Amino acid sequence: MADQRNQPDHPGQPGEREQAYLLGLRLGGKKVVVVGGGAVATRRVPALLAAGADITLVSPGITPGLEDLATSGRITWLARAYQPGDCAGAWLACACASGREVNEQVALEADAQRVWCVRADDAGASSAWTPAAGGAAGVQVGVLSGDPRRSAAVRDAITNGLSAGTISARHWRRRRPGVALIGGGPGDPGLITVRGRQLLAEADVVVADHLAPRELLAELPPDVLVIDAAKIPYGRSMTQREINDLLISHAASGRFVVRLKGGDPFVFGRGGEEMLACLRAGIPVTVVPGVTSAVGVPAAAGVPVTHRGIVQDFHVISVHVPPGDERSSVDWESLARGTGTLILLMAVNRLGAVAEALIRFGRAATTPVTVIADGTMPTQRTMYATLENMERRVADAGLRPPAVVVIGEVVTIAAELAGLARDVATTPPLVPPAGGG
Ligand SMILES: C[S@@+](CC[C@H](N)C(=O)[O-])C[C@H]1O[C@@H](n2cnc3c(N)ncnc32)[C@H](O)[C@@H]1O
Repeated sequence: MADQRNQPDHPGQPGEREQAYLLGLRLGGKKVVVVGGGAVATRRVPALLAAGADITLVSPGITPGLEDLATSGRITWLARAYQPGDCAGAWLACACASGREVNEQVALEADAQRVWCVRADDAGASSAWTPAAGGAAGVQVGVLSGDPRRSAAVRDAITNGLSAGTISARHWRRRRPGVALIGGGPGDPGLITVRGRQLLAEADVVVADHLAPRELLAELPPDVLVIDAAKIPYGRSMTQREINDLLISHAASGRFVVRLKGGDPFVFGRGGEEMLACLRAGIPVTVVPGVTSAVGVPAAAGVPVTHRGIVQDFHVISVHVPPGDERSSVDWESLARGTGTLILLMAVNRLGAVAEALIRFGRAATTPVTVIADGTMPTQRTMYATLENMERRVADAGLRPPAVVVIGEVVTIAAELAGLARDVATTPPLVPPAGGG
């Protein structure tokens, strides 16, 4: 960082080839002398205060930020030039004056008094260095590399990775208990939330669904137990009871269990049932929302589910049982009578029954439809149809689950957007005329 601007590649006095010994100083209530009241001191003082240091600042003039701290009594300001003896009783000195001679004197006095001294102007002549410091996810990071910009870049890479959960850093002393129900988003691994990724990186056990973003599982350390609870449509699946029992038994034995689901855990995801089972068994549960495929898949495919002036409501419907089935609780008649966008999940194999019911109850047979399969994934396919021909068109195109079906006038907007996006992609970008003419 700027404080290390002059830090040499090979540390200077004393001992050119010695490495710095990294230490975390606990400065609570301990005197720290800061000489200088400019930009460097302004940057450094807040971190010292955060560490609880008892700061005496020596400088004839100071920045407004430091003056605020002095006025509010958070630091002691001696409004004068440095005098020999100012380092007495300090545990650490920061020589941040603008004049080199002043910093030299402070460093000499500090050395004589066996006080560690950080010199802002000459890292090679410093007995201590300030690392590029930062923190994320409850971890403090300090980096020294001999190159301040490189140190800052390494620090940023680490803190960003910790924040995003891309650096696996599980807690060992203060481990999370229980189960986290995490919505993984519609499929693209970039669409999980930051919180979801952070908690996934903490998992001892991951119970993953078929539609969860599976690429993320490959990043887990080898000691994480990954259980496939694949609920493959029309194929083998683990029963909900078995899944609940797994979550409870692993969590009860002290492991942190992540239940990784596609979309959002509470949108046709049985997250509520799993949460109930865990809480009834005394297991704490954290819920991390996810981008539901119901709106995330249309959005990623350029299908707005509402559009000003066209439609102001949308309805998300599970078609795991078709209209007319005695197990269905959906009021298809009122959905057909309204004008809202209908978003159907788990519908691909029941499109004929849906079209028949909606047309019979009053939706126009020509209502536009779009079907998006494998949304947000490299294999995504989008198809346009109308209510009356959607079943045949889906069959002809060979579209398979998972797919989201969007029915309503917004589909005309989606088609227009798709056309315009194609034109933009194929038109060369505008180049300003050369020569100012
Ligand atoms: C059991 S539901 C789970 C929904 C999930 N909890 C959510 O919020 O997206 C599964 C259905 O979601 C839809 N779905 C999930 N992921 C999808 C994707 N990537 N592309 C298209 N549809 C998807 C399909 O309709 C699929 O049959």
